[in-house]
Amino acid sequence: MFPTTLLTTLLLALSVAANPVLVNRSPVTLPISRRLNLTSIHNLVRHDQARAKALRARAAAKTTGLTFHTDAVINEQVDNQAVTYIASVGVDSLIIDTGSSNTWVGATKAYVKTSTSVQTSNKVSVTYGSGSFSGTEFTDTVTLAPGLVIPKQSIGVASTSTGFAGVDGILGIGPVDLTVGTLSPATNSPIPTVTDNLFANGVITANEIGVSFEPTTTPEVLNGELTWGGTDSSKFTGAITFIPITTTFPASEFWGINQSVRYGTSTSILTTTAGIVDTGTTLVLLATNGLTKYKTATGAVVDSATGLLRITSAQFSALQSLFFTAGGTTFELTANAQLWPRSLNTDIGGIAGRIYLIVNDLGTNSGQGLDFINGYTFLERFYSVFDTTNKRVGLATTPFTTATTN
Ligand SMILES: *[C@@H]1O[C@H](CO)[C@@H](O)[C@H](O)[C@H]1NC(C)=O
Ligand SMILES: *[C@@H]1O[C@H](CO)[C@@H](O)[C@H](O)[C@H]1NC(C)=O
Repeated sequence: MFPTTLLTTLLLALSVAANPVLVNRSPVTLPISRRLNLTSIHNLVRHDQARAKALRARAAAKTTGLTFHTDAVINEQVDNQAVTYIASVGVDSLIIDTGSSNTWVGATKAYVKTSTSVQTSNKVSVTYGSGSFSGTEFTDTVTLAPGLVIPKQSIGVASTSTGFAGVDGILGIGPVDLTVGTLSPATNSPIPTVTDNLFANGVITANEIGVSFEPTTTPEVLNGELTWGGTDSSKFTGAITFIPITTTFPASEFWGINQSVRYGTSTSILTTTAGIVDTGTTLVLLATNGLTKYKTATGAVVDSATGLLRITSAQFSALQSLFFTAGGTTFELTANAQLWPRSLNTDIGGIAGRIYLIVNDLGTNSGQGLDFINGYTFLERFYSVFDTTNKRVGLATTPFTTATTN
């Protein structure tokens, strides 16, 4: 149990272990540890909804060429990053984020210039759903792991940032176009991401990333893995289904896919529509009208203490799987996978023995081009692949897809 003072954020951390990594080989696989810094779940739901709004606003700003002013669209102030996946890169702990693409440091500790640091004449700034940073652009050698080195990587060095307690910045692994508009003076060229440069430099032979998470009921455990340049077949079962990036805006700006969602054998929750796969969102968020159908089908009610949906033991006994169909394959999120881990109930302000659900409200009705977010509670059950070269997202079952750990 954490002291109360630490219960202010839910931090899902991925630390790259200091094991030596084989170089001159593609793919490069890095172990990742998951750490939960637990908080009020209310903050977590608000965080996820604020993130959804910010993602939409970012996409809209990009296409209209207008400056992205989050204040105009985000009314709730969420003061801390509710969930983060963190890799240790050199001395920095960076959030791994599939929903943004700039890499920057300096949130909690000063950037130390070295002989390879070169300041450019640009300012750089990005606004997220639960924070922002602005600072100066540098190019520098980024060492992701021993041997996994990127010379002349563009990075942001924060002079101000909000919402990033306990982490130093972000390692952006989203689509490169999300970097457009982050520099000033403005340029229409994207800033090549860390993954782009690893690929361009021949360190990895495919411009893709494989991500493995596993469900856990303990606050800290080494159970994740990020693979640059390929996939790790020991982390998934069966074949990977590749789903083309959706053409529907604004999901098309992210790792967006078309997907339908069904509850049990025949209750349609969402007909085929566009949404995104996102490591920066904790919950599985469904458009409000879809969530209403889910609540009706399950009998779930909103729990005022946590903000999550709650069901009774009898309702849990009757809880059916949710089926996500994408790329011609149906992925089954079992009843157990729809639960918040019960051993962590009290850590999030819930009551021991109660049954809380990880499916929640996106905050907008369907038909708006971003109608669901498959967040990390989904990705703990399915291996994911973010393939830039072929503009597609891969999903596969894992040994944990049907685990009953929750
Ligand atoms: C947990 O979150 C709090 C508040 O955001 C932060 O001060 C603290 O450093 C975090 N703990 C860890 C281990 O990251
Ligand atoms: C996704 O759905 C939209 C809307 O129905 C459709 O136009 C598009 O062809 C579908 N497929 C892709 C890859 O976007």
